[in-house]
Order: sequence, then C-alpha cells, then structure tokens
Amino acid sequence: MTHQATSPLPVVVLISGSGSNLQAIIDAAQRQEIDIEIKAVISNRPAVAGLERAQRAGIETYVVDHTQFADRRSFDTALAQVIDRHQPGLVILAGFMRILTQEFVEHYLGRMLNIHPSLLPNFQGLNTHQRAIDAGVSEHGVSVHFVTPELDGGPVVRRASVPVLPNDSADTLAARVLKQEHRIYPEAVGLFAAGRLKLQDNVAQLDGQPIAQLPRTAE
Ligand code: GAR
Repeated sequence: MTHQATSPLPVVVLISGSGSNLQAIIDAAQRQEIDIEIKAVISNRPAVAGLERAQRAGIETYVVDHTQFADRRSFDTALAQVIDRHQPGLVILAGFMRILTQEFVEHYLGRMLNIHPSLLPNFQGLNTHQRAIDAGVSEHGVSVHFVTPELDGGPVVRRASVPVLPNDSADTLAARVLKQEHRIYPEAVGLFAAGRLKLQDNVAQLDGQPIAQLPRTAE
C-alpha cells in the first residue's frame, strides 16, 4: 500500500449550503477515523449553515460569492486563489452547487472529489430524487467520484444504494440517501488520504486495481 507524503493530508472543503456532509467529514477526522486536516471551508453563498459548522469546529472559513463576479472564469480564478493558499492535497466538493470551468477542474485533476445524490451514471444534474421516482426505478443512491471536465461524469470511487419505496416523496428519498452520503463520503476521503485511491489515465483505482463503473440503466 502506498502512502500520501503528507500526514495528516491537508484538505479544503467547498460548500454551498447546510454542510451535513462537511459535518460527517469533520466528525470522522475528529474521531481520527480518517487522516486529514481541514485547512479551510469555502462557501459560494454567504451565511449558510455549513459555515457555522466549520466555525464551531475551529476551521477557517471563507466566502467567495459567485454573484460578485462577472463570469465563471473570474469566479473560478478567485476561488482557486483562496484554495491554493492552503496547499491542499485534496479538494472536497460537499454540496457545492456551481458548475466549474474546465481550467479549474484540470488544475485539481486527480485531487478533487464530489458527492452526487444518484447512482451515477444515472441522473446526472439536478433534482435527482424526483427524477428517480418519476423514472420508476426500485433502487437509487449516492456516488462519490473524481471530478473531471464532464459534469457529474468523472470516475466513481464509492457508491451506496437505497430502495425507492412505494410512498416515497423526493424528501423522504433524499433523507434515506443522505444517511448513506454521511457514511461513504468520509470513507472515500479516508481512502484517498491513505494513498489507496487514485485517478490514473481517467480511471479510478483502489489499491492499484481499477474500480468498476456501472452502465447507465435509467432515463
Ligand atoms: C447532498 O445531498 C449532496 O449530495 C448534494 O447536495 C447535498 C448537500 O447537502 N450535491 C449535489 O447535488 C451536487 N450536484 P449538505 O450541504 O448537507 O452536505
């Protein structure tokens, strides 16, 4: 097994809202289940609950408000400046609801993870829970993936499934999925920090072996 040169691994977390995934990662780090140090939490929206969660944990917080920038490129440049100040080995997108420029994604290629509330490659994009219900699938879930220039299209590193129940609303289904998010995101981050998870030639590898991707089955 290879190990990351830096221990604990410095990470930066990007959020846009409630930050419950951020909280799960903070908790796992505090319990020393994963070997990371969260150097900064950055939100593109001011006054969100996730910023308070970070402050309560004694983590530096920043707001880079996308509404203050003329275009995507200038926002991404400002964001990257704040991130790079902390020299992270990993950038964690945790409910960060912005589409990123190709340049930004390439700058962090192989060291940026995202969590997406569907069994990718199914239901890329928004409103995943309602779309899963509308499509009549019996299984839904969540995926953690490396971020590549294709939106929600990077190689998946961890997945968890939940059943879709007959009386589910988007909210009840989202709550079932969120529980799994809080389990698998810290796990995936821990694997990366241990040097076990890598992106090699656009293929996700765990312990040097390619991680199997699923075919698209819905929509
Ligand atoms: C989570 O369900 C996450 O999977 C989703 O936003 C929520 C954020 O919750 N992310 C996306 O939809 C990304 N396209 P949180 O702020 O409580 O972690």
